[in-house]
Amino acid sequence: MRVTIRDVAGRAGVSVSTASRALSGARPVAPELTARVTAAARALGYRQNRLASALRTQRTGTVGMVVPQISNPFFPALVEAIERGLSGSGRQLLLGDARRDPEVEAARLEALADRQVDGLIVAPVSAVASAPALRAIAAEIPVVQVDRYVTDAALDWVGVDDAAGMRLLAEHLADVGARTAVLVSAGPDSSTGHARLAGFGPAAARHGLATAEPLLGEYGVDWGLRAAGLLRARGPLPDAVVCGNDEIALGVVRGLSTAGVRVPDDVLVTGFDDAGFAALADPAITTVRQPHALIADECVRLLDLARAGGEHAPRRTALAPTLVVRASTRRA
Ligand code: RIB
Repeated sequence: MRVTIRDVAGRAGVSVSTASRALSGARPVAPELTARVTAAARALGYRQNRLASALRTQRTGTVGMVVPQISNPFFPALVEAIERGLSGSGRQLLLGDARRDPEVEAARLEALADRQVDGLIVAPVSAVASAPALRAIAAEIPVVQVDRYVTDAALDWVGVDDAAGMRLLAEHLADVGARTAVLVSAGPDSSTGHARLAGFGPAAARHGLATAEPLLGEYGVDWGLRAAGLLRARGPLPDAVVCGNDEIALGVVRGLSTAGVRVPDDVLVTGFDDAGFAALADPAITTVRQPHALIADECVRLLDLARAGGEHAPRRTALAPTLVVRASTRRA
């Protein structure tokens, strides 16, 4: 027999409404009554009927999140920070992986909307191709963009200040004596790929670095490996290779090293994100650390504001990264 709230109330010696309030937290109940009700529910093995409470409150207590590529170590770190923030306010996170495909992303968004999530947090795969599905879903459910954003959509966003990251790297490379540099990054289809590309040139110029034509592919080790071969095929290597993320940097270091090019002695290499492996690579990778916890806190705050409703101009928060200097740019 299913244990009901009436059974819990009877065991705790309180009214059904008091028991319901104590368990749902909807309105305050005296601590000693809450303790009695909680103990009774636990003793009876009571499980709140989430479907019934969702129908009553029009809230499911769940938030959906879709990321471009869960296998990229940047995203699990971000998801963990956001999940912690949501669970702190009693909400559950339902996660979808877009597998770097805007069509898969759109399907994940629909599936989460079908589950009546209270809000959606999305790092869009593509600044352009992701926009139609995101605009459509935002008409039904509060949406906040994190890390990446789509153009042509009035939606809130929080992420790292990519241009500031590029300035930190260019300044550091100039400080350690580099005079030439090349960018190896993801293409401009993602907003972060676009922002790092757009930020690299001005940052290099600001610090007196001459630059070669960028090599653009995707965030991934394989692209870094391929780019190392392309750089070598071009002729003399630049003083520094600025990579769009740590995975690319790992591939570039490996590709150059297997060809006998020493990092940092012959070429300096930098990454972006400060993924866990960056400190463990050989040589450890100089990079730009993204403020995951601050991004997550702001993301949850923006979601709560979006759920409160009301017309407002899109809120956009770019948070400062920090430079992490390691062996890949430290010459003896
Ligand atoms: O590493 C993957 C990149 O894609 C990260 O830098 C993050 O900003 C995301 O956009």
